[in-house]
Amino acid sequence: MEIDIAIEQTTEPRPRPTEENLGFGRYFSDHMFVMEHSQVMGWHAPRVVPYQSLRLDPGASVLHYGQALFEGMKAFRGDDGRVRLFRPEMNWKRLQTGAQRLCMKAPHLDVFLQGVLRLVRADADWIPSKPGTALYLRPTLIGSEPFLGVRPSEAYIFYIIASPVGGYYGDSVEPVKIWVEREYSRAARGGIGAVKAGGNYASSLLAATEAKKRGFAQVLWLDSCQKKYVEEVGTMNVFFRIGDTVVTPPLGGTILPGVMRDSIIQLLEARHIRLEQRPITIDEVTEAHDKGDLREIFGTGTAASVSPVGVLGLSEDRLLVVNEGRPGPIATELYKYVTDLQHGRIPDEMGWMMEVPGI
Ligand SMILES: Cc1ncc(COP(=O)(O)O)c(C=O)c1O
Repeated sequence: MEIDIAIEQTTEPRPRPTEENLGFGRYFSDHMFVMEHSQVMGWHAPRVVPYQSLRLDPGASVLHYGQALFEGMKAFRGDDGRVRLFRPEMNWKRLQTGAQRLCMKAPHLDVFLQGVLRLVRADADWIPSKPGTALYLRPTLIGSEPFLGVRPSEAYIFYIIASPVGGYYGDSVEPVKIWVEREYSRAARGGIGAVKAGGNYASSLLAATEAKKRGFAQVLWLDSCQKKYVEEVGTMNVFFRIGDTVVTPPLGGTILPGVMRDSIIQLLEARHIRLEQRPITIDEVTEAHDKGDLREIFGTGTAASVSPVGVLGLSEDRLLVVNEGRPGPIATELYKYVTDLQHGRIPDEMGWMMEVPGI
């Protein structure tokens, strides 16, 4: 269904960063997509407008009770000049699930996709082309009703902003150092860890800050109950290669169902690499390392696609070095495959890429 989206072009283009040093999420493009939802009007007034502040009542529910959800996806400029999105309907599906969990309403798939496409088209000249770069898109859904009683908001704002980005941990595929977090938790059973709620990230900040002070890039999250089972790595899903088997924790309510996790599972299956989705303890990982069977650890996510882990910090005086601190062959091959696919260098056998028309 074609949606009528009004477009207001900016008259004051923002300064362009150079592609060499984009970092992650530091710059915002010229435009944004926005629309509102009310009980009476439903979703209305979809529009692309110059990037600007939101008008938000100080009593809005997002500011008090944290009714906030977001998505993270990327538009890639291919070597052929075409622009492609990676499985955008998966991001919509997760937004939809998250909206139900947080008692909000998400826009329909058509509106979501057309909002994304129109914004990417409006800011097409913000899509970088150097290897590792992309235009990161941040669809966001918030409760906007000014009301202080604790109940679901009856009004929402949905908006999408865009940010040209380099690689997540810098512009290379260097293995990262990860701290095994034993005190703080990201998510608990029955909570909101399986949806992309802003609150999950608020709860993760202190652990990440302390890990950085110790010289680690991020943390390995363990289950909140027994501090035994591995769940995620920073803002990525996690995979271990033990012997010739790849193991990843099963989704069970506390782990975010990553778009890249799903994609990597499909790619491993297509390559006939033995994959187990099962609970895995940090002790099993340690024992596998000590026996010489822990061959690779890698995280997966939109931001970094596939990110090898070179060192796991079990404690102040016990570091596990994985594959001599170098990227392993499976992570390397998957990273290359996904990057080539996203940049249109290989045929899209999986049917995952959506081309942005009109660029
Ligand atoms: C906590 C967490 N886990 C996993 C992921 C990976 O999800 P995706 O592959 O959809 O980017 C993310 C998002 O980036 C995340 O924030």
